[in-house]
Amino acid sequence: MTAILSAQNLHFAYPGEIPALRDLSLNITAGRKLAILGPNGAGKSTLLLHLNGSLRPHQGVVLLADQPGDYTRRGLSQWRSRVALVLQDADDQIFAATVAEDVSFGPLNQGLSEAETRERVQIALAALGISDLAGRPPHMLSGGQKKRVAIAGAVAMQPEILLLDEPTAGLDREGAEQLIAVLRELGQRGMTLVFSTHDIDLALALADDVTLFQGGTVLAQGGAEVLLCDADLLSRAGLRPPVLVELWLDAMARGLCPVGGDMPRDTTALLDRFVPAAPAARVAR
Ligand SMILES: Nc1ncnc2c1ncn2[C@@H]1O[C@H](COP(=O)(O)OP(=O)(O)OP(=O)(O)O)[C@@H](O)[C@H]1O
Ligand SMILES: [Mg+2]
Repeated sequence: MTAILSAQNLHFAYPGEIPALRDLSLNITAGRKLAILGPNGAGKSTLLLHLNGSLRPHQGVVLLADQPGDYTRRGLSQWRSRVALVLQDADDQIFAATVAEDVSFGPLNQGLSEAETRERVQIALAALGISDLAGRPPHMLSGGQKKRVAIAGAVAMQPEILLLDEPTAGLDREGAEQLIAVLRELGQRGMTLVFSTHDIDLALALADDVTLFQGGTVLAQGGAEVLLCDADLLSRAGLRPPVLVELWLDAMARGLCPVGGDMPRDTTALLDRFVPAAPAARVAR
């Protein structure tokens, strides 16, 4: 499988700090959805900032379609048009006077016409369920609304690769489900997705691949089907398998459902595995 974006042996330390990334290597496969999981301070945000050129490694290289990252002004602009990043804190990303203007910023910067931009903005706002916020000043929105605006801004750019730092943090259940649906659809249309998260259920719902981070480096990388079932490995990154997966593993161990098969991604998929119980006896009238 070809890596559309890769980090090779990255080292990075913030000024005066201990290293945030240590010999970190990671491949991102075109058209797949990768979840980056790991505890606070593991280096997830720092890596994402390297993947769109916002930070430059002290050692190592970031390759975009096999080409080393180009940190010139023009190179960075092209890089960010192909690889969009939604920051962990929406306040760091939103600055225009209205939501519509903010979401327009990326497409206009890509050289799209006013009419094309307007259409992109409308589609992105509708996808995130925030069309009604188009004329509002972003600084007067709630945290979750701002998050959706920031995501709409990246989606409107129609990048090849969308990087999202903690995309569901601060979203309510409906907002998170809406976002999962949007990301699934973008994935189906061929967009490569990379997201960091503490929400293991988000990884279960969405990820094809999982990378576990620990102490600024990669502890493990592989298919979601394997990694999300590996309790020992997950615990080394301060995590445990999704509850649904724990139930499935336990049900298999107790003989309540057949051993093997694909990891269930939702409740229905799990319940469908269970050996049907004998029909309830009819109560005689
Ligand atoms: N702006 C900064 N200046 C100095 N040190 C920083 C800065 N941002 C992060 N760090 C440090 O770099 C390391 C990695 O931080 P990073 O934000 O990448 O972790 P993370 O995995 O995204 O954590 P979280 O789950 O809390 O978002 C931490 O030790 C952190 O203290
Ligand atoms: Mg972070």
